Amino acid sequence: MTQRRSYGILALSLYRNIAASRFRVFRESSKGNHVSAHHTTRVIAIGNQKGGVGKTTNTVQLAAALGQLGRRCLIWDLDMNYGATRHFGIPPEAFLGSFEVLMGDEDAANVIIDENEADVQLPPNVHIIPSSRKLEKIDQALSEKNKFAPRQFVLKKPLEQIRSRYDYILLDTAPNATTPTIAAYASADWFLLSAMPDPFAVGGLNDALLDIESARQYGNPNLAILGVVLSGVDRRTRLATMLTEYVEKTFTIENGFSLKFETEISRSTVIPDAQKEGKTLFQTEPAHKVTEQYRQLALEVEERFVKLAGGSGSAPTAPEAGGSLVNAAAPDGSTAEAG
Ligand SMILES: Nc1ncnc2c1ncn2[C@@H]1O[C@H](COP(=O)(O)OP(=O)(O)O)[C@@H](O)[C@H]1O
Ligand SMILES: [Mg+2]
Repeated sequence: MTQRRSYGILALSLYRNIAASRFRVFRESSKGNHVSAHHTTRVIAIGNQKGGVGKTTNTVQLAAALGQLGRRCLIWDLDMNYGATRHFGIPPEAFLGSFEVLMGDEDAANVIIDENEADVQLPPNVHIIPSSRKLEKIDQALSEKNKFAPRQFVLKKPLEQIRSRYDYILLDTAPNATTPTIAAYASADWFLLSAMPDPFAVGGLNDALLDIESARQYGNPNLAILGVVLSGVDRRTRLATMLTEYVEKTFTIENGFSLKFETEISRSTVIPDAQKEGKTLFQTEPAHKVTEQYRQLALEVEERFVKLAGGSGSAPTAPEAGGSLVNAAAPDGSTAEAG
């Protein structure tokens, strides 16, 4: 009970500190940039320090769903197992990607795979920075280059260089605290927690809360939880019921507002089948129930940003710089505190 409470309080505090990170305004003046003056990019790390909890699947399908809504999305594969890269049928060794960018050898802009890449079929509005097995060697390589440079910030500059091109940048992380994972936590604005019903799901979520808190203490004070997605849910199982109850309790914050996304993603073979084909559900099964769930999830994500902004207009929008950042309205309409 006390344990559950304390994680609940941690979830609340991580959520509350929404003020400063909320809305970054980018005044773009660079040539060739077709993004309007007040543009908000949401950089979201998808995480949970556990493998096989649906991180990559959620990253890929959510990006495809947001892309369908006309949002420009970049998936940044930061996992040496290159699940997201594989998901699009991209041969990892054929392209430069995360390794070269994190090493500082390539600009992020130069390694983005987009719709112009003839051999790759990406869904509309979705681009990807691929990963490869080489990422295993990143620590050794960085250390050989410069022993003293702090590694947790290797993503910061590359992200800043490309962020204004996108509405969403989704960082798909590995299930362990490798340098690319830590760099994602250190650079993201938001954290999207993924969980699947299994006996270790609760432990994984709690560890993730502690990781987010650490990231906030050591270099990324504005990192905040966007929400929790439950996927691979089979409603008939006790594990699914237990996990849902736990998440509802732990992540329900002020005035009954739950950080858990209402939309749950059901367990279905259409997901591994799409992965095998190197496509998203929107390409293989556009009318399937699970595809519709990802559509709903994308709408919920967008809605949440609108609510966080305290507005009722259509997302993504941003207030003026220096505007109502410190007293961003909480989703229930009350006023969230800074700090
Ligand atoms: N909703 C789902 N229904 C059935 N299988 C799923 C679902 N979501 C993910 N999977 C499967 O679960 C496995 C782990 O998913 P993945 O997204 O790779 O997790 P992670 O990135 O957290 O390691 C994959 O084999 C994937 O096909
Ligand atoms: Mg993965």
